Order: sequence, then structure tokens, then C-alpha cells
Amino acid sequence: MSANAATIPSVGFGLWKVPNEICADTVYEAIKAGYRHIDSASDYGNEKETGEGIARAIKEGICTREELWVTSKLWNTYHAKEHVKPALMRTLEDLQLDYLDLYLIHFPIAQAFVPFEDNYPPGWTVDPAAAPKMTLAKVPLHETWTAMESLADEKLVNHIGVCNYNTGLLHDLMNYATVKPHSLQIESHPYLTQERLIRLAKQYDLQVTAFSPLGALSYLELDMAGQQESTLEQPVVKAAAARLGKTPAQVVLRWGIQRGCSIIPKTSKPERMKENLSLFDFELTQAEMEAISALNQNRRFNDPGHFCEAAFGTFYPIYD
Ligand SMILES: NC(=O)c1ccc[n+]([C@@H]2O[C@H](COP(=O)([O-])OP(=O)(O)OC[C@H]3O[C@@H](n4cnc5c(N)ncnc54)[C@H](OP(=O)(O)O)[C@@H]3O)[C@@H](O)[C@H]2O)c1
Repeated sequence: MSANAATIPSVGFGLWKVPNEICADTVYEAIKAGYRHIDSASDYGNEKETGEGIARAIKEGICTREELWVTSKLWNTYHAKEHVKPALMRTLEDLQLDYLDLYLIHFPIAQAFVPFEDNYPPGWTVDPAAAPKMTLAKVPLHETWTAMESLADEKLVNHIGVCNYNTGLLHDLMNYATVKPHSLQIESHPYLTQERLIRLAKQYDLQVTAFSPLGALSYLELDMAGQQESTLEQPVVKAAAARLGKTPAQVVLRWGIQRGCSIIPKTSKPERMKENLSLFDFELTQAEMEAISALNQNRRFNDPGHFCEAAFGTFYPIYD
């Protein structure tokens, strides 16, 4: 196994649900605001625009390619070994890059292949013209991981890793990986602290990135969370914000990095870009850290065990 090399920048910029029409400008502005870590994915449907934003920033000399950390993710429909490299090449072409810093398996879910020319990115249903339906494929994760390792061997990606793995899948991955996984990306915020999974990942020397670090907020527009579930409204978060002269969002994000994870907040609002990156001139006390961690309710907003059944009639839990 190769050594676990570069450290992922602790605050990245998330791109899920950034609308296509503002995505290039958003990425450009994020880089201009100081972000050096971009969290992309084929499934977000905005990699072309993300690539335009990156290219513009590099062209204007705001940063070099080497100063950026770009992550992307292999979608569920490309898990079979023959589809993994073409999926990466499509992502690289869209992003206008010749390598990624990190390529992640997006979900431990293999779905039937959909050719690029039929539908790209295909999302969760294979045939958009038919009634929404998930079509699964019998591809073991070991096969997908081995194909990911080849991408690292070819130096098309500097690091490889996984998203949305539970402890059992992580143990199994560590049994067969010959290229060491660099990162685990998982949902984590004060209502879903995932302490045991994070501890295990660190025991295996993986870096952990928390997605949806602000919790419910990302899921309001999808009707997958209620406003009352926002951690920003919690008295303990508000009290720390008042003590520090920071916003509740900054307190929740600071909690995320202070516990040793990287975070990838998304915003479409330029004024929030700086806010979400300005987390390094203050510290939460041990008592505040513990009180925010104690908000945990094991509340998972991004759960295929719920949304696949609600949207496609397929019961497909992966975390239990
Ligand atoms: N691997 C995976 O399976 C997976 C799954 C989900 C997400 N991700 C990644 O993780 C990234 C972050 O997660 P996320 O987008 O779900 O959620 P998030 O970053 O925790 O939250 C985004 C939501 O919070 C709002 N927001 C951002 N900054 C704010 C602030 N300072 N104050 C108040 N509200 C604020 C945003 O609204 P505005 O845009 O209006 O500011 C948006 O509604 C994604 O973009 C994606 O890159 C990965």
C-alpha cells in the first residue's frame, strides 16, 4: 500500500444543486474568495460549468492547478470495471483537467449502465422517459475498487476513496485494497455525529470529509427536512455565536473542522462564501464542542433507504 499522502484542505466548496446557469461564476467566485478545494461529482450535472469556472480562475492567475484540490465522484451506473475509466475521462473532459486530486465512489450502490449518449448524467433512474424506477446491477464493490486503483496507477487521479460507506464496508475495503483509500466522505453535522464511523476511519488512517455540514438546510428545498430541524436555531449554537461574534453557521462549520474532519459547505450566495471560509480566527471551548456534539439525534437527511423508495419505489437501505 502506498503512503497516505496529501492532506485535503479542511474547507472545500460543495457543488451539489448549484444551478447550471450560475455554476461557472459561482466556482470562479469561490476560488476568488479563497477556496482551494472543490467538491464536484458527475451526478451534480454541472461539471462542464465547474470546469469553466476553474479554467477562468486559473487563466486569470488567481491560482494554479497545483494549488487546487479537485474531488469528483464515480456515479452508480459506472461501477462495472469497463465503465470506471470512461466515467473518469468524461469527468476530466468536462472539468477541463488532466488529473483529479481525489476520485470517490459516490455510493456503495451499483446501478445498470447507461451510455453517455442516452443520458448524462443519468441520475437514479435508467430511463427518464419511463416511470421512475431504479435498475440495479450485480457489480461487487471489490471490482469497482480495483478499477479505481488502476486510475491511481495510471496517475489520472492522485488519490482514491469512498463515500457513504458504513463500518462493515470499510472493514471489507481494507481487506482487499492494494492502493490505500485516502478519504471517506460521509454525511455529518451536529444531528448526525457519526462518532464510531469517524473513529474507525481514522484508525485506518483515512481522512474524513463531512458532507451536508450544515445539516437540514440543504434538504429543505427537497422537502426532506423541516425548518425546525435546523441546527442553526439551537440555543447552544446561538450562544457560542453570540460569545464569539460569529454566525451560527460559522459555529456549526467550526465544530466540523475542530473535531478533525474536512467540510465542504455549498452556497449559491457570494456573501456566504467568505463567511463559510472564515473559520480559523476563533475556537470553540471544549464545553461548547461537547454541547454541540450532544445535539446528535442520528438524523440522516441523505438516506437512500428513504428517498429511493419515495421516488422510485425501490427499498434500498445501505446504512443499517
Ligand atoms: N458524497 C455524497 O453523497 C454527498 C451528498 C450530499 C452532499 N455532498 C457534497 O457536500 C456538499 C455540501 O453539502 P450540502 O450542499 O448538502 O449541504 P450544506 O453545504 O451543509 O448546506 C447547503 C445549504 O445551506 C445554505 N447555506 C450555506 N451557507 C450558509 C450560511 N452561511 N448561512 C445559512 N445558510 C447557508 C445553502 O443555501 P444557499 O445556497 O442559498 O446559500 C444551502 O441551502 C455538497 O454541495 C456536495 O458537494 C456529497
